[in-house]
Amino acid sequence: MTPTRLWVACLAVVVLASSCDERTAIERGEALFRSPDASPSPTNTISCRTCHAPAAVPANQILSGGSLAGVVGRPSFWGGRVRDLREAVNDCLRFFMRHPSAEGLSMDDERGLDLLAYLESLAAGPSDVVPFTVPLDVVDIASGDAVRGRALFDAGCHVCHGAPSTGDQRLVPQAAVIPDETIAEHGVELGRAFTVGKVRHAQFFGIGGDMPPFSFEVLPDDQLADILAYLGY
Ligand code: HEC
Ligand code: HEC
Repeated sequence: MTPTRLWVACLAVVVLASSCDERTAIERGEALFRSPDASPSPTNTISCRTCHAPAAVPANQILSGGSLAGVVGRPSFWGGRVRDLREAVNDCLRFFMRHPSAEGLSMDDERGLDLLAYLESLAAGPSDVVPFTVPLDVVDIASGDAVRGRALFDAGCHVCHGAPSTGDQRLVPQAAVIPDETIAEHGVELGRAFTVGKVRHAQFFGIGGDMPPFSFEVLPDDQLADILAYLGY
């Protein structure tokens, strides 16, 4: 092939490759929202959708990040702790989705812009700060009702941890098999307090890991009490 022909052939490949993806920015953003590929980490297995709903949260799900409907209109994020939307998304990528870079996703790159276009396309929702309350000190709570706890566990914990005691169907390989691994390491009494602490503080307050925190708004104490009972605490 002459150099000119080669050049024309290459150009054709480039043009074809870029025109293969005929989706709009919103469609590409939605696909990213639902895929672990939103984070470049090869060990990340969860998506934005694992923790957030694009509209009202379905009745059979408890999502630590809640609904993102109307999110672009909110004055601040993370209960008022974060002012910038891009930073709020970057925090999720870094804290929960194993994004390797401290800068996280850049809203200047195409994927960031696609994700933003998708968030902008979501239906209107609360236009004020969404409250996100976690306790400073974790206080142990009495166990509740194991039958209710099963449904609550299925709604909020099963997606990552899989079934209790076996981890069957868990989405996140590094999520412990609960309660067994916790009890083996800490015993029942400490294991129980550790579980409350993990649910409320997750990796923050010096605890570590990449589980998300559940606020009182998303998971009230009486529901956590039911989950503790279901786990046999
Ligand atoms: C492991 C769970 C988890 C994952 C995965 C996750 N988030 Fe979050 N996200 C949270 C939690 C928890 C908050 C704080 C919730 C709050 O402020 O109400 C949050 C907050 C946010 C906020 C701010 C909302 C507000 O009003 O405070 C945005 C925007 C957001 N996440 C977008 C994303 C996007 C986009 C992705 C995917 C790239 C993502 N998140 C992945 C858990 C997660
Ligand atoms: C988005 C995924 C995700 C969800 C949802 C989730 N977890 Fe986790 N959890 C993890 C991961 C990952 C770990 C291991 C890393 C760490 O400690 O943060 C973990 C660790 C834990 C631990 C510590 C286990 C030990 O012995 O080290 C407990 C207890 C726990 N989770 C309980 C829960 C409960 C109860 C729920 C539901 C209210 C829940 N988790 C929801 C991902 C999740």
